[in-house]
Amino acid sequence: MKDFAARLIRWHKRHGRHDLPWQNTTDPYRVWLSEIMLQQTQVATVIPYYLRFLDRFPQLADLAAAPVEDVMALWSGLGYYARARNLHAAARAVMAQHGGKFPRNPVVIAQLPGIGRSTANSIATFCFGAHAPILDGNVKRVLCRAFGIEGFPGSGAVEKQLWALAAELMPSRHAAIHNQAQMDLGAMVCTRGKPRCEACPLTDICVARATGRTAELPQAKPR
Ligand code: ADE
Repeated sequence: MKDFAARLIRWHKRHGRHDLPWQNTTDPYRVWLSEIMLQQTQVATVIPYYLRFLDRFPQLADLAAAPVEDVMALWSGLGYYARARNLHAAARAVMAQHGGKFPRNPVVIAQLPGIGRSTANSIATFCFGAHAPILDGNVKRVLCRAFGIEGFPGSGAVEKQLWALAAELMPSRHAAIHNQAQMDLGAMVCTRGKPRCEACPLTDICVARATGRTAELPQAKPR
């Protein structure tokens, strides 16, 4: 699908999200915090927590200096509390191991507590202009449907296939917009239940749509 990226980028210009509090900044601390909060939580829930968090800890150094109990208290209600613990540990690691400067290399970023390959690549594209694909739950769903990929996307073999596909689909320009567009499409159009295929820029080339498999893809974890 050679125009996959072009379709997404064009769609994002008109229909994507552009004014969220963590957009229009390349401060890695702000982008990282947003990516962690957004991992298991919807945008509307994240916004007030995000703003309160930055109010209390405006810089990474402020977070690193705080007692972990203060961080947990600010996280209270967001859920998945390991995220907060890891966030605090990672802030301290950036101070101790990187002189307080957030690393730029996605491989190095991914070594920080709580940051996987996809989140590291998001941060590196949004903040440092890297050319690194992402593969979170939303993107997995978009790719499994668009390309008709069978199998549980959390399994090693399928995940490997998806990473290769995601890398192949990366355009030579506009990596950050491309990554954001995939996340927005998964969150806003190619949703888990009731996808809005009529509003999707991939609708005429989507394998799941053509074969009536939208409800079956991506496949659930086998049990
Ligand atoms: N989920 C994770 N990261 C996101 C982002 N940058 N925008 C929207 N949803 C997201």
